[in-house]
Amino acid sequence: MAREPKNYDHLIGKIKGLSENQLKAHFTLYQGYVKKLNEIEQKLGTVDKSAPNYSYNDFSELKRREPVAYNGTFLHELYFDNLGGEGTSPSGVFKGAIDAAFGSWDAYIADLRAAAGSAHGWVLTCYGYSDNKVRNVLVQSEHHVGLFVDTQVLVAVDVWEHAYFMDYGTKKPDYVSSVIQSLNWETIEGRAKYSPLAKKD
Ligand SMILES: [Fe+2]
Repeated sequence: MAREPKNYDHLIGKIKGLSENQLKAHFTLYQGYVKKLNEIEQKLGTVDKSAPNYSYNDFSELKRREPVAYNGTFLHELYFDNLGGEGTSPSGVFKGAIDAAFGSWDAYIADLRAAAGSAHGWVLTCYGYSDNKVRNVLVQSEHHVGLFVDTQVLVAVDVWEHAYFMDYGTKKPDYVSSVIQSLNWETIEGRAKYSPLAKKD
């Protein structure tokens, strides 16, 4: 069954520093990833698999593009889902994990900002199941390059130019400040509660 894009219209007017035009353009781009994920999955259900090839083959190319549409869809949902939190503040499992990993909240925010300044793509705060560490990760080049395996995304920040250029031009740090102010820490805490972080002493 085809996947339907989620509706994020409730964010319009709720995120200080992001205009209706900017958000609507971003929603449209996200919907495009959902459409392409549906198309790829539908074609993978019927495509000939008898002659896979590294240089070119219909099946091979669909498999190569599948993670782009998949991550493009779900990273955007993680991002929009963790926006709109004006008035919430970090606490609980997530805050404790950040203090343990970075030493202080300010050090975490400084690392997040530095990661955003380094990235042309996504900055994700991730929990690593393999090493039990929380770190900020840069995911660049088509949504899948740089993503660590065996991790849970706790915070997603879109720092592709399409996320902010209409409102901020080249002033990416100002956009990052707006997003940090608008993060929904209740949503983020809900993600942390379902990770092994919640079971730590
Ligand atoms: Fe985006």
